[in-house]
Amino acid sequence: MVSSPIPMVVDTDVGTDDAVALVLALRDPRVEVVAVTAVAGNTSLPNVVQNALYTVEIAGSQVPVHPGSPRPLLRELATAAEIHGGDGLGDIGLPLRGRTPSAEPAVEALLRAAREHRGELVLVTLAPLTNVALACLADPDFASSVRRCIMMGGTGRGPGNVTPVAEFNIWVDPEAAAIVLRSDLDITMVGWDACLADATFSEDDLESLRVLGTPLARFCVGIQQVSRQRAITEGRVEGICIPDPLAMAVALEPTIITESRRLGVGVETRGDLTSGQTVVDHLGVTGRAPNCEVVFRADRRRFMEMVRGAFL
Ligand code: RIB
Ligand code: CA
Repeated sequence: MVSSPIPMVVDTDVGTDDAVALVLALRDPRVEVVAVTAVAGNTSLPNVVQNALYTVEIAGSQVPVHPGSPRPLLRELATAAEIHGGDGLGDIGLPLRGRTPSAEPAVEALLRAAREHRGELVLVTLAPLTNVALACLADPDFASSVRRCIMMGGTGRGPGNVTPVAEFNIWVDPEAAAIVLRSDLDITMVGWDACLADATFSEDDLESLRVLGTPLARFCVGIQQVSRQRAITEGRVEGICIPDPLAMAVALEPTIITESRRLGVGVETRGDLTSGQTVVDHLGVTGRAPNCEVVFRADRRRFMEMVRGAFL
């Protein structure tokens, strides 16, 4: 008997890696993306909304895109044009204007999806957690209604990517991340370290995807140009890390995880040097209940096959 597709909401700051993650979800018959919620992060909220709408369209979907928060809960927005380009999708001249988002705000869409799919909804967060934190604050039942949350964010071990200890999604809005990590959400955390290990694409990897020649392959590889050029300039021969699709792959196929542990994870919100750090209690000394399945490694071969399959 064919099981019905699993309902999913993707919270995103479409950016160049978010777009690849969205394509994986939108092209996978095992899930039904019931909403895409947009939040500022890699680029401004208006850009994120248009980028999400463009990506949904090129993936052949009509799923609604719901505008969310234009800035973090307390802090000023910091974006990442150096990775994603000024428009958030690699500055390759895509027609990223004039598409119409849903009139329903992101937080309302999140709350409605959790109610309508109580106990079934899979929430994938690929961005600063501002929208998700606001949903947790708005409805005490939200977190417990979500079946599981796969979060690209933080670091399970090892350095950050914005500061020595902080990863971008958490660093942009640490207060939101702290609220989400204190909620009842059943979180699988796919940190920057896991993505560096198993979601780094060499130039050969990218070329082998580009030569598939499909519109999705051309789009998903083409938008990486800013990041690729930066890697070449910086002499990073290993290539570029494209993190969000790994978190999405974990959501789609949890058995892709090859190493993980259930650990207590908190977020530093006050440190001068450490703001945005995910503090992972590897020693079990904080008394903090384990609140995350922290992913350390995944099956890279299967991940690359999933990406390839989504582009065909
Ligand atoms: O640190 C990587 C994360 O920050 C990814 O989600 C990327 O899209 C940016 O949002
Ligand atoms: Ca992202």
